[in-house]
Parts: sequence; structure tokens; C-alpha cells
Amino acid sequence: MSASLLIYCNFTAQKHGASPFMMRIIILLFAHFMTCVWADGVADVVLSCTLVEEEVRLGGMGGAAFTRTPATLVFRDVAVGPEESLEMLTPFVPPSIPDPDLILFEAKVSSPEIPNAEVLLHADCNEQEVMCEISRYSPRGMQESLDPAYFMVSLSVDGVDFSTALILQTLKIEKERSTLTQNKLGLPLSQTGTLLTEVIFLVFTHIKSVSAPLRGDVLLNCGFRQQEIPLAQDAGIEWRLQHRGKGRKVLEMKTKLDDTEGATVVYGDRVGSSVDAAQVAGEGNASMTLTRLKVVDEGTYICTVSIGSFHAQQVIQLHVIQPPHVSLSEEKLVLKKAQTLSCHCSKYYPLDSQLEWLSLSPKDTEPKPFANQGSLSSHRQHGDGTYSQSSHLAVPPDVSPGTKIICRVSHPALDAPLDVSVLVESPEPDCYWWVLGFLVITVLFFYQVI
Ligand SMILES: *[C@@H]1O[C@H](CO)[C@@H](O)[C@H](O)[C@H]1NC(C)=O
Repeated sequence: MSASLLIYCNFTAQKHGASPFMMRIIILLFAHFMTCVWADGVADVVLSCTLVEEEVRLGGMGGAAFTRTPATLVFRDVAVGPEESLEMLTPFVPPSIPDPDLILFEAKVSSPEIPNAEVLLHADCNEQEVMCEISRYSPRGMQESLDPAYFMVSLSVDGVDFSTALILQTLKIEKERSTLTQNKLGLPLSQTGTLLTEVIFLVFTHIKSVSAPLRGDVLLNCGFRQQEIPLAQDAGIEWRLQHRGKGRKVLEMKTKLDDTEGATVVYGDRVGSSVDAAQVAGEGNASMTLTRLKVVDEGTYICTVSIGSFHAQQVIQLHVIQPPHVSLSEEKLVLKKAQTLSCHCSKYYPLDSQLEWLSLSPKDTEPKPFANQGSLSSHRQHGDGTYSQSSHLAVPPDVSPGTKIICRVSHPALDAPLDVSVLVESPEPDCYWWVLGFLVITVLFFYQVI
């Protein structure tokens, strides 16, 4: 059993109608609620998007300029699990009078399905912003045409690990005299005023940003899906790394999708980088594993999947992290005069570490920052790309015994700041005074005896 339902994301039907329209929504909602309440159904998702077009400038000076036009994208038949609450779902009703000025894309997504599409269903209710950009797409080596026309949709949700690039292909419309043409795109509209399309190819990632420890292993997530009738028999996977303005190819693989025997890695620049050809063919999983991470592996990875004339990409950030090792120069502190205490913070990555001196006297319950925060050494960089830094604190002699002096280090690789401390001990009475005291007592003793 299935029914068509809709979530309104920043786009409401009220725009197109008044109260009779609302009545229809309520009645339809009620009807669907009745049919769907226990059912595993499908829903429609409506997204506010931006159509981005390159402006054709006369003279060609001043680089590329883009125009941005509001557009709407309706995903039909997004699978909804039985656990979905239907309270927020309302059916999609196209505008009652087709408007050739509106840019209203309608896309069927039952095959291929968009992995994790339920994120889109919840985004509006969770007040997460959905980024949706649509642009014209020209398949490689094909003449730009209007029938069919292709569009690339980039979708991501703020604060959620969901990112997908989809290629839409327009569906054939039987032209009649009443058929309207979309004013901006010059494409025929359906009876309901929408641009009918289907998703033919998509590339996605579940993880947009990963942090992994130095010398550890990491999986950079990237997957793809294509329509039922394969676009081609071979897939090309390319992973590139972009960092500080420099780019390099990390791995390139071409593989047959029906038979992995013919899989060949064409290029592998980094030792310990791999993509599983069987997973590419079997599951559309183009994730790359990197082993024994180095600092130079950090950066922006671009996963490009090409099938036939079509290709799409995902971008994944890799951060390498290594927590500092923190130690103090003294194991105990006995103050007779001002003394220097050093805190060494070593072999961490990235650079942004913070070092703070605190003191906790026996009277206090909370440590207080030291008035004088010592002097920081400059950063030293090691051969493996990690950093070290020290701070030197002149501890004044008037710090009372029993006080703890704390070096507190904060670093992105640490969940909580790390404290190392030393206790100020009371000085043992000087030997000189012992001798003098002993002499005085001895003299007094003999004096009395005599
Ligand atoms: C690819 O496979 C790995 C495990 O082998 C898994 O952790 C990952 O989620 C998969 N990614 C995709 C996009 O299917």
C-alpha cells in the first residue's frame, strides 16, 4: 500500500491558492492518513532550490558570472519507513493553474533510490537547512540538447552527514496545442506545469568530514547508483586530493560493472590507498581506504564516479589529528627562590594547541589562572609534520606550600583539556639552622652542668 504525501520545506501551497485549496489539503491528508498509518509508504519531498546558470556575457571579460533563480524540486515516491510519523506529511498538489514562469522540477526517485533520503523528510521539522542547487548538465561528448535535457542537482543538509549529487533527465512530453513551455529554460511543461524528470545517476557520501589519527587507517565514504537500465558497463572511479591550492590524483580505477575480473587500477600514487573493485561493481561503493595516515594526507578529497557519458562528484574533508603528549620539567617543587617550571607539549597535530597555567591553593576549590602566564617557545615542526611547543613559567617564591601548579593543554584531538600538575612542597629546614640549634643546646647543657 502506498500513498503520496509531502513535506513542505519552505514552500507552501498557500502561495497558489486560498481556502478551498486548504480544504483539499485537509481532506486529502485525512484520507491518506487513513490509508497510510500502518503502511510502509512513499512520500513526496518538496525542496526550495536555486537554479544556477552561467551568464553569457558579451566581450567575455571579467570571468564567469552566475545568475541564481529560485526553483522548486519535488521528489516523488521517496520511500518512507513504517516508523515515520505522518503528522508532518501533507500531500503535494501542483499549482491549480500551470505557470510557465515557475521552475518546478518533478523527479521520480524510486529507481534509483536516494540513499538516506529520510534525512530530507526530517530536515524541515528539525530546522536544518537543505542546500539545493540545480544547474544544466552536459554529458561528456554529447551535443547539448533540449530533448532530453539534463540537470545536475547538488543536495546537502546543514549539520547532517548527507550529501548527494544527482543527474536528472527530462522525460518525453507528448506535445499538444495546450502544452506550455517554461519561459526561462525553453522546455515543455507537463499538464500540471512541472518539468517532468527522472533521476538516472547519483553519487553520494554518508560522511562529509572525517578526523583520523596519525598512522591510523581511514575510510573515505563515496557511493553511486544508476538507473535500472545501466548507462554503461564500465565505471571509472577517481579520487583526488586538493590541499592548500595544490591538487593531485591519489587513485584511479576503471572496472567492469558486470564482471570484476577485468578490474584494473590504472593509477595509484599513494602507497596504502585502495578501492574495492568487488564493492564498486556489487554495491556501488567507491569508498577509498587509506592506511598509515600521514600529515600530508590531510585535505579535501574529491570522489568522481563516471559511467558512460555521465559523471558526478562528492567532496570529503579529511583531518589528521594527533593529541599532544604533555609533561612538566619538575616532579616536585620546593621554593626557596623563584624557580622556572616548563611545560612541554609534544608531537601534536594540527597546530592549534592552547596552553594555560593555573594554580590551586589548599584554600581554593577551583584552580585559578596564574597572573603571569609564562613565556611560550616557538613551534617546532618534526619530520612527520607534528608540532611541539613549551611554556616556561617563573614560579614566585611566595606561592604557599600545598599549592598545585597546573599546566592545562587544549587541543582539537583532545575531548577535554589535559592537566598535568606539580605540588609545591614546604622547604625542609636548613641544615645550617639544625647545626646552630644543636650547638646552642649543647652549650646551654654544658653551661648548666658546669
Ligand atoms: C562501503 O563499504 C564500507 C565497508 O566495507 C562501509 O563502511 C561504507 O558505509 C560503504 N559505503 C557506501 C557508500 O556504501
